[in-house]
Amino acid sequence: MRITFGDLKIGDTARKYVQRALGKNWISEGDNIAEFQRQFAAKFGYKHAIATSSGTDADIVSCASLYDFGAERGDEIIVPACSFVSTANSILAAGFIPRFVDIEVDTLNIDPQKINESINKKTRAIMLVHTMGKPCEMDAIMKMAEANKLKVIEDACEAHGATYKGKYVGGIGDMGTFSFYAAHVVVAGEGGMVVTNNDEIANVVRSTKSHGRPFGSIYFDFQRIGFNSRMNELTAAVGLEGLENFEQTFSTRKNNLYKLLELTRDLVDYLYFLKEESHEKISPHAFSIVLKNKKYDRDRLYKHLEEKGIQCKTLFGSLPTQHKAFRFLNHRYGEFPVSEYVGENGLHFGIHQYLREDDLLYISETLKNYFK
Ligand SMILES: Cc1ncc(COP(=O)(O)O)c(C=O)c1O
Repeated sequence: MRITFGDLKIGDTARKYVQRALGKNWISEGDNIAEFQRQFAAKFGYKHAIATSSGTDADIVSCASLYDFGAERGDEIIVPACSFVSTANSILAAGFIPRFVDIEVDTLNIDPQKINESINKKTRAIMLVHTMGKPCEMDAIMKMAEANKLKVIEDACEAHGATYKGKYVGGIGDMGTFSFYAAHVVVAGEGGMVVTNNDEIANVVRSTKSHGRPFGSIYFDFQRIGFNSRMNELTAAVGLEGLENFEQTFSTRKNNLYKLLELTRDLVDYLYFLKEESHEKISPHAFSIVLKNKKYDRDRLYKHLEEKGIQCKTLFGSLPTQHKAFRFLNHRYGEFPVSEYVGENGLHFGIHQYLREDDLLYISETLKNYFK
Protein backbone atom coordinates (compact mmCIF):
# COMPACT_ATOMS: atom_id res chain seq x y z
CA MET A 1 0.00 0.00 0.00
CA ARG A 2 1.54 3.30 -1.03
CA ILE A 3 -0.93 5.76 0.50
CA THR A 4 -2.15 4.51 3.86
CA PHE A 5 -5.02 6.17 5.73
CA GLY A 6 -2.73 7.30 8.53
CA ASP A 7 0.70 6.64 9.94
CA LEU A 8 2.31 6.82 13.37
CA LYS A 9 5.97 7.40 14.11
CA ILE A 10 6.92 7.33 17.79
CA GLY A 11 9.59 9.83 18.81
CA ASP A 12 11.59 10.94 21.84
CA THR A 13 8.82 12.74 23.75
CA ALA A 14 6.58 9.66 23.79
CA ARG A 15 9.52 7.47 24.82
CA LYS A 16 10.39 9.86 27.65
CA TYR A 17 6.86 9.72 29.07
CA VAL A 18 6.64 5.94 28.59
CA GLN A 19 9.88 5.62 30.57
CA ARG A 20 8.48 7.89 33.28
CA ALA A 21 5.51 5.53 33.73
CA LEU A 22 7.66 2.41 33.60
CA GLY A 23 10.08 3.93 36.11
CA LYS A 24 7.19 4.33 38.56
CA ASN A 25 5.92 0.79 37.98
CA TRP A 26 2.52 2.40 37.42
CA ILE A 27 0.63 2.50 34.14
CA SER A 28 -2.95 3.00 35.36
CA GLU A 29 -4.12 6.65 35.65
CA GLY A 30 -1.26 8.82 36.86
CA ASP A 31 0.97 11.77 36.00
CA ASN A 32 1.03 11.29 32.21
CA ILE A 33 -2.74 11.40 32.01
CA ALA A 34 -2.93 14.43 34.30
CA GLU A 35 -0.41 16.19 32.05
CA PHE A 36 -2.17 15.14 28.83
CA GLN A 37 -5.53 16.42 30.14
CA ARG A 38 -3.98 19.67 31.32
CA GLN A 39 -2.21 20.34 28.02
CA PHE A 40 -5.21 19.35 25.88
CA ALA A 41 -7.52 21.68 27.82
CA ALA A 42 -4.99 24.53 27.70
CA LYS A 43 -4.21 24.23 23.99
CA PHE A 44 -7.84 24.47 22.89
CA GLY A 45 -9.22 26.58 25.73
CA TYR A 46 -11.56 24.02 27.34
CA LYS A 47 -12.13 24.30 31.07
CA HIS A 48 -12.04 20.51 31.61
CA ALA A 49 -10.51 17.68 29.58
CA ILE A 50 -11.16 14.14 30.84
CA ALA A 51 -9.21 11.30 29.25
CA THR A 52 -10.95 8.05 28.27
CA SER A 53 -9.85 4.74 26.79
CA SER A 54 -11.23 5.57 23.31
CA GLY A 55 -13.33 8.06 21.40
CA THR A 56 -16.17 5.55 21.63
CA ASP A 57 -15.91 5.56 25.43
CA ALA A 58 -15.85 9.35 25.40
CA ASP A 59 -19.18 9.18 23.53
CA ILE A 60 -20.61 6.56 25.90
CA VAL A 61 -19.77 8.43 29.12
CA SER A 62 -21.02 11.71 27.62
CA CYS A 63 -24.38 10.10 26.86
CA ALA A 64 -24.52 8.35 30.25
CA SER A 65 -23.88 11.66 32.06
CA LEU A 66 -27.33 12.82 30.89
CA TYR A 67 -28.97 10.75 33.66
CA ASP A 68 -27.69 13.30 36.15
CA PHE A 69 -29.55 16.01 34.25
CA GLY A 70 -33.05 14.53 34.13
CA ALA A 71 -32.80 11.93 31.37
CA GLU A 72 -34.36 8.50 31.85
CA ARG A 73 -33.62 5.12 30.34
CA GLY A 74 -35.27 4.80 26.92
CA ASP A 75 -35.16 8.54 26.18
CA GLU A 76 -33.92 9.66 22.77
CA ILE A 77 -30.76 11.32 21.49
CA ILE A 78 -30.75 12.90 18.04
CA VAL A 79 -27.81 11.74 15.91
CA PRO A 80 -26.86 11.87 12.21
CA ALA A 81 -27.93 8.77 10.25
CA CYS A 82 -24.57 8.73 8.49
CA SER A 83 -21.50 8.75 10.74
CA PHE A 84 -18.89 6.40 12.13
CA VAL A 85 -20.83 3.77 14.05
CA SER A 86 -19.58 4.78 17.53
CA THR A 87 -22.22 7.48 17.85
CA ALA A 88 -25.29 5.25 17.58
CA ASN A 89 -23.58 2.40 19.45
CA SER A 90 -22.74 4.75 22.32
CA ILE A 91 -26.29 6.04 22.60
CA LEU A 92 -27.54 2.45 22.82
CA ALA A 93 -24.78 1.38 25.21
CA ALA A 94 -25.71 4.22 27.56
CA GLY A 95 -29.37 3.07 27.56
CA PHE A 96 -30.91 5.58 25.14
CA ILE A 97 -32.52 5.28 21.69
CA PRO A 98 -30.85 6.94 18.69
CA ARG A 99 -33.23 9.21 16.76
CA PHE A 100 -31.58 9.37 13.35
CA VAL A 101 -31.62 12.52 11.23
CA ASP A 102 -30.45 12.76 7.61
CA ILE A 103 -27.30 14.63 6.57
CA GLU A 104 -26.41 17.16 3.84
CA VAL A 105 -24.46 15.95 0.83
CA ASP A 106 -22.19 18.98 0.58
CA THR A 107 -21.15 19.17 4.27
CA LEU A 108 -21.63 15.48 5.26
CA ASN A 109 -23.06 16.86 8.53
CA ILE A 110 -26.45 16.54 10.19
CA ASP A 111 -29.07 18.62 8.35
CA PRO A 112 -30.09 21.36 10.83
CA GLN A 113 -33.42 21.84 8.99
CA LYS A 114 -34.38 18.26 9.79
CA ILE A 115 -33.53 18.32 13.50
CA ASN A 116 -36.65 20.20 14.61
CA GLU A 117 -39.09 17.67 13.17
CA SER A 118 -37.34 14.87 15.13
CA ILE A 119 -37.65 16.52 18.54
CA ASN A 120 -40.35 15.02 20.77
CA LYS A 121 -41.17 14.57 24.48
CA LYS A 122 -38.47 11.93 24.89
CA THR A 123 -35.64 13.89 23.26
CA ARG A 124 -32.89 14.74 25.75
CA ALA A 125 -29.89 15.67 23.61
CA ILE A 126 -28.44 16.25 20.16
CA MET A 127 -25.24 14.35 19.45
CA LEU A 128 -23.78 15.89 16.33
CA VAL A 129 -20.64 14.92 14.44
CA HIS A 130 -18.19 17.34 12.81
CA THR A 131 -17.65 14.89 9.94
CA MET A 132 -14.24 14.88 8.26
CA GLY A 133 -13.28 17.85 10.44
CA LYS A 134 -15.96 20.15 8.98
CA PRO A 135 -17.83 22.01 11.73
CA CYS A 136 -21.62 21.61 11.92
CA GLU A 137 -23.95 24.62 11.72
CA MET A 138 -23.57 25.34 15.44
CA ASP A 139 -25.60 28.58 15.66
CA ALA A 140 -28.74 26.93 14.31
CA ILE A 141 -28.21 23.77 16.37
CA MET A 142 -27.53 25.60 19.65
CA LYS A 143 -30.63 27.73 19.11
CA MET A 144 -32.82 24.65 18.66
CA ALA A 145 -31.21 22.96 21.66
CA GLU A 146 -31.79 25.98 23.89
CA ALA A 147 -35.38 26.37 22.77
CA ASN A 148 -36.08 22.71 23.61
CA LYS A 149 -33.82 22.44 26.71
CA LEU A 150 -31.64 19.77 25.10
CA LYS A 151 -28.00 19.07 25.88
CA VAL A 152 -25.57 19.15 22.94
CA ILE A 153 -22.79 16.59 22.63
CA GLU A 154 -20.31 17.49 19.89
CA ASP A 155 -18.56 14.40 18.56
CA ALA A 156 -15.32 16.03 17.43
CA CYS A 157 -13.45 12.74 17.05
CA GLU A 158 -12.56 13.74 13.46
CA ALA A 159 -12.17 17.45 14.19
CA HIS A 160 -9.18 18.27 16.42
CA GLY A 161 -8.45 21.97 16.14
CA ALA A 162 -11.44 22.80 13.90
CA THR A 163 -13.07 26.14 14.66
CA TYR A 164 -16.55 27.59 14.11
CA LYS A 165 -16.79 31.40 14.22
CA GLY A 166 -13.46 31.52 16.05
CA LYS A 167 -14.30 28.91 18.70
CA TYR A 168 -12.75 25.47 18.88
CA VAL A 169 -15.36 22.77 18.28
CA GLY A 170 -16.05 20.57 21.27
CA GLY A 171 -16.40 23.61 23.52
CA ILE A 172 -19.51 25.13 21.92
CA GLY A 173 -22.07 22.57 23.08
CA ASP A 174 -22.28 21.09 26.59
CA MET A 175 -19.68 18.40 25.94
CA GLY A 176 -17.23 17.49 23.18
CA THR A 177 -15.56 14.17 22.44
CA PHE A 178 -12.26 13.33 20.73
CA SER A 179 -10.49 10.19 19.52
CA PHE A 180 -6.73 9.67 19.37
CA TYR A 181 -6.86 6.60 17.15
CA ALA A 182 -3.87 6.14 14.80
CA ALA A 183 -5.15 8.06 11.79
CA HIS A 184 -6.28 11.20 13.60
CA VAL A 185 -4.71 14.66 13.81
CA VAL A 186 -3.70 14.12 17.47
CA VAL A 187 -2.62 10.50 17.83
CA ALA A 188 -2.09 8.39 20.94
CA GLY A 189 -2.62 5.03 19.19
CA GLU A 190 -5.91 4.61 21.04
CA GLY A 191 -7.67 6.82 23.57
CA GLY A 192 -10.24 9.57 23.77
CA MET A 193 -11.20 12.74 25.65
CA VAL A 194 -14.37 14.40 26.89
CA VAL A 195 -14.17 18.18 27.11
CA THR A 196 -16.59 20.57 28.79
CA ASN A 197 -16.71 24.06 30.24
CA ASN A 198 -19.27 23.00 32.86
CA ASP A 199 -17.96 21.94 36.31
CA GLU A 200 -20.98 19.80 37.14
CA ILE A 201 -20.82 17.87 33.87
CA ALA A 202 -17.07 17.38 34.35
CA ASN A 203 -17.61 15.79 37.77
CA VAL A 204 -20.31 13.47 36.45
CA VAL A 205 -18.13 12.40 33.50
CA ARG A 206 -15.15 11.76 35.82
CA SER A 207 -17.34 9.56 37.95
CA THR A 208 -19.06 7.77 35.03
CA LYS A 209 -15.77 6.82 33.37
CA SER A 210 -14.66 5.16 36.63
CA HIS A 211 -17.58 2.85 37.51
CA GLY A 212 -19.80 5.67 38.81
CA ARG A 213 -17.76 6.25 41.97
CA PRO A 214 -17.55 9.73 43.45
CA PHE A 215 -14.62 11.39 41.68
CA GLY A 216 -11.34 10.63 43.42
CA SER A 217 -12.64 7.65 45.40
CA ILE A 218 -11.34 4.17 44.76
CA TYR A 219 -13.73 2.50 47.17
CA PHE A 220 -17.02 0.70 46.61
CA ASP A 221 -19.46 3.57 46.62
CA PHE A 222 -21.36 3.60 43.33
CA GLN A 223 -23.50 6.68 42.81
CA ARG A 224 -24.51 6.24 39.17
CA ILE A 225 -24.17 3.62 36.46
CA GLY A 226 -20.62 3.81 35.18
CA PHE A 227 -17.95 2.04 33.17
CA ASN A 228 -14.24 1.49 33.18
CA SER A 229 -13.44 3.95 30.42
CA ARG A 230 -10.11 5.11 31.78
CA MET A 231 -7.04 5.82 29.68
CA ASN A 232 -3.67 4.33 30.69
CA GLU A 233 -0.30 6.04 31.15
CA LEU A 234 1.32 4.55 28.03
CA THR A 235 -1.42 5.85 25.79
CA ALA A 236 -1.16 9.29 27.40
CA ALA A 237 2.62 9.21 26.79
CA VAL A 238 2.06 8.84 23.04
CA GLY A 239 -0.75 11.40 23.17
CA LEU A 240 1.54 13.99 24.78
CA GLU A 241 3.79 13.72 21.74
CA GLY A 242 0.77 13.93 19.42
CA LEU A 243 -0.19 17.13 21.17
CA GLU A 244 3.33 18.54 21.03
CA ASN A 245 3.27 17.98 17.25
CA PHE A 246 -0.26 19.30 16.81
CA GLU A 247 0.51 22.61 15.03
CA GLN A 248 2.98 20.99 12.63
CA THR A 249 0.69 18.02 11.90
CA PHE A 250 -2.32 20.26 11.42
CA SER A 251 -0.60 22.61 8.99
CA THR A 252 1.05 19.84 6.95
CA ARG A 253 -2.24 18.00 6.61
CA LYS A 254 -4.09 21.21 5.82
CA ASN A 255 -1.58 21.98 3.05
CA ASN A 256 -2.11 18.45 1.74
CA LEU A 257 -5.86 18.99 1.75
CA TYR A 258 -5.60 22.24 -0.19
CA LYS A 259 -3.02 20.92 -2.65
CA LEU A 260 -5.18 17.93 -3.43
CA LEU A 261 -8.29 20.10 -3.81
CA GLU A 262 -6.35 22.26 -6.26
CA LEU A 263 -4.98 19.27 -8.19
CA THR A 264 -8.44 17.72 -8.55
CA ARG A 265 -10.29 20.95 -9.37
CA ASP A 266 -11.13 19.65 -12.85
CA LEU A 267 -13.20 16.86 -11.36
CA VAL A 268 -15.79 19.22 -9.94
CA ASP A 269 -18.40 18.02 -12.47
CA TYR A 270 -17.97 14.48 -11.19
CA LEU A 271 -17.44 14.88 -7.46
CA TYR A 272 -18.64 16.76 -4.40
CA PHE A 273 -15.71 17.99 -2.33
CA LEU A 274 -15.82 19.54 1.15
CA LYS A 275 -15.61 23.32 1.07
CA GLU A 276 -14.20 25.53 3.82
CA GLU A 277 -16.35 28.60 4.53
CA SER A 278 -14.90 31.88 5.80
CA HIS A 279 -16.43 31.44 9.30
CA GLU A 280 -14.78 28.10 9.91
CA LYS A 281 -11.49 26.22 9.99
CA ILE A 282 -11.79 22.60 8.85
CA SER A 283 -9.57 20.06 10.60
CA PRO A 284 -7.75 18.04 7.92
CA HIS A 285 -8.91 14.58 8.98
CA ALA A 286 -9.09 13.00 5.50
CA PHE A 287 -10.00 13.66 1.86
CA SER A 288 -13.64 12.86 1.16
CA ILE A 289 -15.40 12.66 -2.19
CA VAL A 290 -18.97 11.84 -3.22
CA LEU A 291 -19.87 10.98 -6.83
CA LYS A 292 -22.32 13.43 -8.36
CA ASN A 293 -23.70 10.68 -10.59
CA LYS A 294 -24.15 7.05 -9.60
CA LYS A 295 -23.20 5.91 -13.11
CA TYR A 296 -19.52 6.42 -12.23
CA ASP A 297 -19.83 3.45 -9.88
CA ARG A 298 -18.28 4.00 -6.44
CA ASP A 299 -17.34 0.35 -5.97
CA ARG A 300 -15.39 0.36 -9.24
CA LEU A 301 -13.68 3.62 -8.20
CA TYR A 302 -12.87 2.11 -4.79
CA LYS A 303 -11.30 -0.93 -6.47
CA HIS A 304 -9.39 1.28 -8.92
CA LEU A 305 -7.85 3.34 -6.08
CA GLU A 306 -7.04 0.31 -3.91
CA GLU A 307 -5.42 -1.50 -6.85
CA LYS A 308 -3.22 1.54 -7.37
CA GLY A 309 -2.15 1.43 -3.70
CA ILE A 310 -4.46 4.10 -2.21
CA GLN A 311 -6.15 2.81 0.93
CA CYS A 312 -9.83 3.77 0.81
CA LYS A 313 -12.77 3.78 3.16
CA THR A 314 -16.41 4.32 2.24
CA LEU A 315 -18.34 7.19 3.86
CA PHE A 316 -19.96 5.08 6.60
CA GLY A 317 -23.45 4.69 5.09
CA SER A 318 -26.82 5.17 6.70
CA LEU A 319 -26.54 3.33 10.02
CA PRO A 320 -30.29 2.63 10.40
CA THR A 321 -30.95 1.46 6.83
CA GLN A 322 -27.66 0.19 5.39
CA HIS A 323 -26.21 -1.74 8.34
CA LYS A 324 -27.58 -5.03 9.64
CA ALA A 325 -26.70 -4.15 13.26
CA PHE A 326 -29.50 -1.56 13.43
CA ARG A 327 -32.26 -3.60 11.78
CA PHE A 328 -33.95 -4.15 15.13
CA LEU A 329 -34.89 -0.45 15.13
CA ASN A 330 -37.18 -1.17 12.13
CA HIS A 331 -36.19 1.64 9.80
CA ARG A 332 -36.72 1.22 6.07
CA TYR A 333 -34.39 2.01 3.19
CA GLY A 334 -35.47 5.36 1.73
CA GLU A 335 -36.01 7.10 5.08
CA PHE A 336 -32.56 8.74 4.96
CA PRO A 337 -31.99 9.40 1.24
CA VAL A 338 -28.91 11.62 1.53
CA SER A 339 -27.15 9.34 4.01
CA GLU A 340 -27.97 6.38 1.78
CA TYR A 341 -26.68 8.22 -1.31
CA VAL A 342 -23.45 9.12 0.49
CA GLY A 343 -23.19 5.55 1.76
CA GLU A 344 -23.37 4.26 -1.81
CA ASN A 345 -21.40 6.97 -3.59
CA GLY A 346 -18.85 8.31 -1.12
CA LEU A 347 -15.25 7.54 -0.31
CA HIS A 348 -12.46 8.95 1.82
CA PHE A 349 -8.74 8.43 2.04
CA GLY A 350 -5.75 9.74 3.97
CA ILE A 351 -3.94 13.07 3.66
CA HIS A 352 -1.62 12.43 6.57
CA GLN A 353 1.50 14.35 7.53
CA TYR A 354 3.99 11.82 6.15
CA LEU A 355 2.74 12.04 2.55
CA ARG A 356 5.05 13.80 0.10
CA GLU A 357 4.26 16.13 -2.77
CA ASP A 358 4.64 13.30 -5.32
CA ASP A 359 2.15 11.17 -3.33
CA LEU A 360 -0.45 13.94 -3.72
CA LEU A 361 0.31 14.18 -7.44
CA TYR A 362 -0.02 10.42 -7.69
CA ILE A 363 -3.42 10.46 -5.93
CA SER A 364 -4.76 13.22 -8.18
CA GLU A 365 -3.52 11.52 -11.37
CA THR A 366 -5.00 8.20 -10.25
CA LEU A 367 -8.35 9.87 -9.61
CA LYS A 368 -8.30 11.73 -12.92
CA ASN A 369 -7.40 8.59 -14.88
CA TYR A 370 -10.50 6.93 -13.52
CA PHE A 371 -12.81 9.56 -15.03
CA LYS A 372 -10.96 9.78 -18.37
C1 LIG B 1 -17.04 10.46 14.47
C2 LIG B 1 -16.36 9.42 15.30
N1 LIG B 1 -16.81 9.16 16.53
C3 LIG B 1 -16.23 8.26 17.33
C4 LIG B 1 -15.11 7.58 16.91
C5 LIG B 1 -14.55 6.54 17.81
O1 LIG B 1 -13.24 6.72 18.18
P1 LIG B 1 -12.37 5.47 18.68
O2 LIG B 1 -11.96 4.72 17.46
O3 LIG B 1 -11.21 6.11 19.38
O4 LIG B 1 -13.20 4.65 19.58
C6 LIG B 1 -14.58 7.81 15.64
C7 LIG B 1 -13.39 7.09 15.20
O5 LIG B 1 -12.69 7.41 14.31
C8 LIG B 1 -15.22 8.75 14.80
O6 LIG B 1 -14.79 8.98 13.56
